[in-house]
Amino acid sequence: LPSPLREPYVSLTFELLAEDTQTEARLGRLTLPHGVVETPVFMPVGTQASVKGLLPEQVEAAGASIILGNTYHLALRPGEDRVAQLGGLHRFMNWERPILTDSGGYQVFSLEDLRQLDDDGVRFRSHIDGRWLELTPETAVAIQEKLGADIIMCFDECPPSQAPKEQVLAAVERTTRWARRCRDALTSEDQSLFGIVQGGIDEELRQQSAEQLVELDFPGYAIGGLSVGEPSEVMLEVAAKTARHLPRTKPRYLMGVGRPLELLEAVAGGVDMFDCVMPTRNGRNATAFTTQGRLKLRNACYAEDERPLDPEWPAPYVGHFSRAYIRHLFMAGEMLGPIIVSLHNIAFYCRWMREIRERLRDGRFNEYRASALARFGDSL
Ligand code: GUN
Repeated sequence: LPSPLREPYVSLTFELLAEDTQTEARLGRLTLPHGVVETPVFMPVGTQASVKGLLPEQVEAAGASIILGNTYHLALRPGEDRVAQLGGLHRFMNWERPILTDSGGYQVFSLEDLRQLDDDGVRFRSHIDGRWLELTPETAVAIQEKLGADIIMCFDECPPSQAPKEQVLAAVERTTRWARRCRDALTSEDQSLFGIVQGGIDEELRQQSAEQLVELDFPGYAIGGLSVGEPSEVMLEVAAKTARHLPRTKPRYLMGVGRPLELLEAVAGGVDMFDCVMPTRNGRNATAFTTQGRLKLRNACYAEDERPLDPEWPAPYVGHFSRAYIRHLFMAGEMLGPIIVSLHNIAFYCRWMREIRERLRDGRFNEYRASALARFGDSL
């Protein structure tokens, strides 16, 4: 593929186009080998080389410019060697725009069959065929190189939310050692490796983790270990405080977050990138995000509701279907129901981020933020 990046070859540029004067929010442009990403951005989740239920052209029409894939799932099935043999993840799934892959660190720590964790990495049994597998900083990078995403993530240790401070400190230090090993293992020149900050909800540990990773000079940084059960306000405060310890000129990615209003608040705290299963997972179980708040479409109140899901923000392909029809699809167990609401929700999230970018461009971000908080309260 032709690269939009100029010689000498760089695999990532991040331009800061505007900075809000009243908050830490920034408008940016991330240029990657497979295209340009305007930030703040939401990345739909395509765990198994598929944004569940949606065609790539629908995901693109919904406004997505970059999607996320998962090392853990793809390494288990179909395996990174097969994906590489079939031309890499972009070609395999027919998505030609940028992709980010997560490292597998997070997924593997929630496994029951996690048999061994030490400083080298993690050994576990595949839930698919019982094979023994190993994820280490070196194998996580090697797998992600074979998958070929534009942005790849360090292999990190995300401790449980109730872990005592000593355990969170140990995970911070191990995450730094692993980040150095990931950086040293990277050979590919057209992929950018991001560091992941850990440290739980402890300010001091977050700062320590951020500083140690900044020392390693990654092209971008993620804030990990959040949205694991702590209250939303705590999550947002920790994310904003962590962002302050990250370089102004590099992209910042808050992993696994969140609801639309959480994205807005995290942008105000200085975050540029997000991913979350919420629009697709909630879409599959009949919850739509709209400018009228969240709609639970199985509810009897929609049985004869002829209005579209969201008259204010109609999504491509599905903006004209009535709530009554969509409810019927769910009640009848028809697969089109989850497809329609997933596509609608992805479009809603992407539109939400586009509105935020437009207000940052106008210099009216903080006004918009106040009005959105007042209008949507806890409905979004
Ligand atoms: N996704 C959500 N949180 C995390 C995290 O802490 N680490 C990784 N690797 N992925 C995540």
